[in-house]
Amino acid sequence: MADLHPLHVTVNGQAHRCSIAPRTHLVDFLREDLGLKGSHLGCEHGVCGACTVELNGQIVRGCLTLAVQADGGSVQTIEGLSQSGVIRDLQQAFVARNALQCGFCTSGMLMAAKELVETRPEATRAEVREWISGNYCRCTGYHAIVDAICDVLRQRKETQA
Ligand code: FES
Ligand code: FES
Repeated sequence: MADLHPLHVTVNGQAHRCSIAPRTHLVDFLREDLGLKGSHLGCEHGVCGACTVELNGQIVRGCLTLAVQADGGSVQTIEGLSQSGVIRDLQQAFVARNALQCGFCTSGMLMAAKELVETRPEATRAEVREWISGNYCRCTGYHAIVDAICDVLRQRKETQA
């Protein structure tokens, strides 16, 4: 068995200290060790975006990030963000726009969309489409997802005006 490495990481505001095999990917650590199943595993190759989480404030592919890379850092998953702020607004817009069906892609979509809303509040519809092009959805055809994200961008602009 491979040597275990110490890991000290804060996940959704809660500190965890454990030992972990160095080859463990972040999404496997979150799902299997912490029981946070909101981040999904699709392609395991960095292509589909289902595993998207935040590491130190930026979205990463959980299947391409080793858990030990999060040592000393802070991770946010959909479980820690759903009750407030941008994610809550996005969830409501996704429901209103029928932007999810099976829901497999949805947590990754929401995490990617959250970063867009926070960092590019002026994004055009074309920029929204490009931004989420790294997140695959087999069900919705994408238009409803783009509609939902554009709704949130518009709503936030209106409330700030
Ligand atoms: S499972 Fe990570 S990008 Fe597909
Ligand atoms: S809602 Fe099913 S994969 Fe996107």
